[in-house]
Amino acid sequence: MAGRIKIVAGNWKMNKTSPEAVKLARGLIVNIGRLEHPRVILCPPYTALSELANILKDSNIYIGAQNMYAAESGAFTGEIAPSMLLTIGVTYVILGHSERREYFSETDTIVNDKIKLALKSGLIPIVCVGEKLEQREEGQTEEVVAGQIDGSLAGLSADDMDEVVIAYEPIWAIGTGKTATPEMAQEVHRFVRDRLKAGFGETAEKVPILYGGSVKPENAAGLFSQPDIDGGLVGGASLKVEDFAKIVKSV
Ligand code: PGA
Repeated sequence: MAGRIKIVAGNWKMNKTSPEAVKLARGLIVNIGRLEHPRVILCPPYTALSELANILKDSNIYIGAQNMYAAESGAFTGEIAPSMLLTIGVTYVILGHSERREYFSETDTIVNDKIKLALKSGLIPIVCVGEKLEQREEGQTEEVVAGQIDGSLAGLSADDMDEVVIAYEPIWAIGTGKTATPEMAQEVHRFVRDRLKAGFGETAEKVPILYGGSVKPENAAGLFSQPDIDGGLVGGASLKVEDFAKIVKSV
């Protein structure tokens, strides 16, 4: 547990034009731009990354992308390479979000390729895992999450894991208003940490594991007080200055 950093990341998904993104970011700078704890990361759409990176460079807020492609350059129309993100000041990249797995057919193998290239390029991946409602109801949560962890992180070293953030996001809780109780979430977080420990040894204690899925100002403190929940990946509530600032301050 010692030395693990706490993180609150806002996943803006496909929301906010550039002018809207600038407005939201400026509001956040005023409210939480000087906080030293926890680490705050904003993940706007690609079109706002560059502008936000500029606006935020004198604050304590970091910038993350929501995706990238697993190649350094080339004929991949419509895709974005990690070096393109790095050179505009992006530090983090969300990989394997359930929406990408579901709507864009991303498999653990694809996610694994992306993670490896992100690390090689110097980006810190925020790797998402989580089960569907029917899988939870069938008692398959651990099996599903273990498969995603093992598949997504295959071939990484313990040193690599020093630069990885995990987000546990039960799919049934994303954007639905249904949150896992702090105890339910902690149980899976503990399981994830044990799985990481089996694969990577003591480095697992240093890996931040974020909870995602309808995190709101009202439930954030309860979730974040659990021993293996090191912060949150926040969707809907990250689109409002007040709500996101409250969540950040509740760590
Ligand atoms: P939500 O999204 O907070 O709107 O549930 C979380 C996420 O998908 O990262």
